[in-house]
Amino acid sequence: MDVIRVKNADEGGKKAFEILKDGIANGADTFGLATGSTPETMYEYMVASDLDFSDKVSVNLDEYVGLDGSNEQSYRYFMDQHLFNQKPFKKTYVPNGKADDLDAECKRYDQIIADHPIDIQVLGIGQNGHIGFNEPGTSFDATTHVVELTESTVNANKRYFDKVEDVPTRALTMGIKSIMQSKKIILMAFGQAKAEAIKGMLEGEVTQDLPASVLQNHPDVVVIIDEEAASKL
Ligand code: F6R
Repeated sequence: MDVIRVKNADEGGKKAFEILKDGIANGADTFGLATGSTPETMYEYMVASDLDFSDKVSVNLDEYVGLDGSNEQSYRYFMDQHLFNQKPFKKTYVPNGKADDLDAECKRYDQIIADHPIDIQVLGIGQNGHIGFNEPGTSFDATTHVVELTESTVNANKRYFDKVEDVPTRALTMGIKSIMQSKKIILMAFGQAKAEAIKGMLEGEVTQDLPASVLQNHPDVVVIIDEEAASKL
């Protein structure tokens, strides 16, 4: 893995944006995208740029079960607000958290991923080492599935909700197998809370107990970390 150290999230987002821009210049047109606070600065650089995404496709990692795009806490809403409303794409995919049949929705999403192979996958990382919502213990062979969020993840995400009881406890997530099939991966991590997971991911063994460690097996990963996230290396 190629590790780039930056001062802060702004510099990290700029770096990620530059890698994305180079990728586009080299023909990348399908992007796997993440939500959460980590990629926000990268989206700001994308929005401020003169790049045109109207012939590009995005396939997001995950969505809460039970929320649709009109819900301000949904990941579809997040993506619309931070990127798609300002920079329209040809097509944007986010799992449907309101699907009646969640198993069918997982299959539908896997077909979307198969039809749109991801050129560049953008990732954050959970404090417990999750990528997407693939929590510790998830098989590296997993495709899109429904996941029970761990207490650690629910607690980390409660900052976006009025109270912890409002945080959905289930989500739909792209699986590790699909993430690993992306041609290139950019993982960003900012802040002290990510330091332990980053150490495990880069220096620990490859284990399902720390899902992000699987990225050691991918041929083209760029890890962008600030000083705090790098502080345990
Ligand atoms: C979000 C996602 C998650 C987050 C991770 C970090 O789509 O897939 O894996 O990247 O939980 O979240 P933040 O960036 O809010 O610290």
